Amino acid sequence: MTVRRVLKMGEPLLGQVAAPVLRFDAELEALVRDMDETMRSLNGAGIAAPQIGVSLRVVIFEVADNPRYPHVSPVPYTVLVNPELTPLGEEQAEGWEGCLSVPGLRGLVPRHTRLRYRGVDLHGAPIDRTVEGFHARVVQHEVDHLDGILYPQRVRDMRDFGFEDALGTRMTPMPD
Ligand code: NI
Repeated sequence: MTVRRVLKMGEPLLGQVAAPVLRFDAELEALVRDMDETMRSLNGAGIAAPQIGVSLRVVIFEVADNPRYPHVSPVPYTVLVNPELTPLGEEQAEGWEGCLSVPGLRGLVPRHTRLRYRGVDLHGAPIDRTVEGFHARVVQHEVDHLDGILYPQRVRDMRDFGFEDALGTRMTPMPD
């Protein structure tokens, strides 16, 4: 396992549409281990393969019970490969997001409140979940990475985008 360098906004690979995973092999396992170690080393809530320079449709996420974010419900550790998202209903909510590829900044981003996501796990076994709230937000943020979209592109009003240490009390802190 290796902590890999996280690509930063501006690097072209982060803007690419990632390719589907076709082989569930040792190479995929090694990729997920590196993503896992990299995410944990930076206390991230999730990471997508393109963020460590691999343009494949793989994301991982986990939000443990964290006293720093008492308003955020835990999200189980998930390896999600070749995901498909289906929003449920029209409702959207705004929330503050950060990203390991956009260090030090936060922005207010609208996301679908409820959605169904499908895909497969590391071994190709199906995943099919209906989720809401922060879980739904994390999945939308991570899957956006697979389509070359970073959250600042979804901020509606650039006055709601800035440095974490400058936003202060305007911002409800969320895990990255
Ligand atoms: Ni991100």
